[in-house]
Amino acid sequence: MSDLDIRRVGGRIGAVITGADLATELTDDVFAQVKAALLAYKVLVFRDQDITDAHQLAFAGRFGPLTQKHPMMRTAEDNPQVIPVDGEDQRANHWHTDISFTTTPSLGTTLRSVVLPPYGGNTLVANAEAGYKALPAELREIADRLWAVHTNHAEQPRLGTERGDEVRKAFLAARFETAHPVVRVHPESGEPCLFLGGFAQRLVGMTVRESRPILDVLQSYVRRPDHVVRWTWQPGDVLIFDNRNTQHYAVDDYDDHKRVLNRVSITGDVPVGLDGKSSYPVQEEL
Ligand SMILES: [Fe+2]
Repeated sequence: MSDLDIRRVGGRIGAVITGADLATELTDDVFAQVKAALLAYKVLVFRDQDITDAHQLAFAGRFGPLTQKHPMMRTAEDNPQVIPVDGEDQRANHWHTDISFTTTPSLGTTLRSVVLPPYGGNTLVANAEAGYKALPAELREIADRLWAVHTNHAEQPRLGTERGDEVRKAFLAARFETAHPVVRVHPESGEPCLFLGGFAQRLVGMTVRESRPILDVLQSYVRRPDHVVRWTWQPGDVLIFDNRNTQHYAVDDYDDHKRVLNRVSITGDVPVGLDGKSSYPVQEEL
């Protein structure tokens, strides 16, 4: 018997899990329940965890091979699979899907609270499957046929500090461009979702300018408050989201306070559209 307790935090997305200790290896039975919950709720938060990077790596590794060193981001000195998400480096206050500019965006990402600001710095996660379902039939027919080019060179927030500029320069040092179907079919559930976010710069066959209003309209269905969970971090929180059918946003409202979350991501597969076609690189690293 396990004391695992899974409680939804909203009708469309998110659940909180108590009764699981990530400092110990979860039994196969408990892990199967956690995995099913991730598929069902898309974001899970484990409370009151007293864990290290090693525990986080072990937990994330249960879902599949870990994403190796991020191509452009600073990683932990002793472990390149851990990215300290530090507000002094950058603030991801834009809706995005992790590394969607590559052909294999992460399956999922785990985030562990390390240093929290005294206020603010919430994480928002939106259900992109609900966004797709909410489209009027006429708009859905258009979305079903579209493909989008995702690039790390899409418009991104600027921190405006010397350190921020350095991190930004490193992030843009190589150029990645990948074409993904705008409607992606989830490899496990078979459910379609709007696969967009901030790295989606333009639609295939259109200029950036022509694409923008269409992307904005589609994005507005994903970002509806009804489809979003807003997580207020507490010490000991460990969050995991399915990166294949969600987008997330780090709220930048904590002024000059320190905020560090350690990120470990799981390798994802090549996205597939409704017609069975797979994503393809438009431009690899230059
Ligand atoms: Fe992210």
